[in-house]
Amino acid sequence: MLCVVGARPNFMKIMPLMRAFAARAPELNVKLVHTGQHYDVEMNSQFFNQLGIPTPDVSLEVGSGTHAVQTAEIMKRFEPVVDEHAPDAVLVVGDVNSTIACSLVAAKKGVRVVHVEAGLRSRDRSMPEEINRILTDQLSDRLYITEDEAIGNLIAEGIRGDKIVHAGNVMIDTLLACRSDAAPATETLGQALGEAASKWLEGGYGLLTLHRPSNVDDAETLQRLLATIARLSERLPLVFPMHPRTQARIEEYGLGGIIGPSRVAVLGPQGYLEMLGLLDGTRLVLTDSGGLQEESTALGVPCLTLRENTERPVTIREGTNVLVGTDTAAIEAAFEGALSRGRSAERRPRNWDGRAAERIVDDLAAWLKQ
Ligand code: UD1
Repeated sequence: MLCVVGARPNFMKIMPLMRAFAARAPELNVKLVHTGQHYDVEMNSQFFNQLGIPTPDVSLEVGSGTHAVQTAEIMKRFEPVVDEHAPDAVLVVGDVNSTIACSLVAAKKGVRVVHVEAGLRSRDRSMPEEINRILTDQLSDRLYITEDEAIGNLIAEGIRGDKIVHAGNVMIDTLLACRSDAAPATETLGQALGEAASKWLEGGYGLLTLHRPSNVDDAETLQRLLATIARLSERLPLVFPMHPRTQARIEEYGLGGIIGPSRVAVLGPQGYLEMLGLLDGTRLVLTDSGGLQEESTALGVPCLTLRENTERPVTIREGTNVLVGTDTAAIEAAFEGALSRGRSAERRPRNWDGRAAERIVDDLAAWLKQ
């Protein structure tokens, strides 16, 4: 069987699966394919090192490009890999371009597609990930879901119920497995900020991430968000590990001056263990990331999602997530609310118990024998 990863959020999802394959189903002869969608050390290899993910058996080294170019390039380079290995299935995770590209190649070659983290829907087709989710699920023969809503989403799109398995959340497997190894926030901030770090930590800090095209690719929206962030930092210092896309847009639009003088500490992209430590130490999270919505819920950290929708509604219904959009007044009000609420009990929606990968591998091993 071939397992595919390409971009940063895939790495945390594949880690527990690779472990479970090695421990429970070595006969499946799993090979790891890395498309190279993300390639910088800080977006890529440091995750392999920290998470102990085996070195990929195949590296496609596609790099960046427009969606069409990147997706097409992955398909072109993945096809001969499928021909050479003749796998009995291709397993994909998440919703990035590598996910749909490799699913499409496999499905057209009559190779079964297995999708981990299936059935999530934002109902916003302007998100590239939503297109990737819908199409990947249509092509999949076995669909492992992380939350109950996914069943209805998939059935409504005509997918047979007997293909769907509620396995839980592999990202939370990784969080629970790595929590005791997390890098303390004091160390990460000390390294990044030097002497000034103690000032940041005195009254606590908020953790911010921002990289969705809808938030960072439009100059006016990005300017508004950065101005809001600078204002919020007067209330609570913010730590901002910045995605390369966001950094490039801030430079392109000349917006660096907005947060420059504020109490926003801009860091480069962080490793998994550093991010986990920052998350465990923060008073609240401001984000447009999908993974952080789930991780905040698992840790009981208040999460304000700077989007109009979420494909992960369980984090609102059962967890700490609040959808606030990008309106300044709404963000400010929610920020105050979250600060006064503080941390809540850790919440584990159904099957977010650290054993999702084990369930997937056991089910897959049995299903592939059928
Ligand atoms: C991709 C995923 C998104 C995921 C995000 C996490 C898709 C459609 N999107 O978005 O779902 O949340 O990864 O990071 O697959 N770049 C670098 N170094 C790298 C990788 C990218 O500098 O290692 C820069 C490039 O300039 C590139 C830009 O970041 O053009 C965006 O990268 P890309 O992979 O196209 O999309 P992401 O925004 O990272």
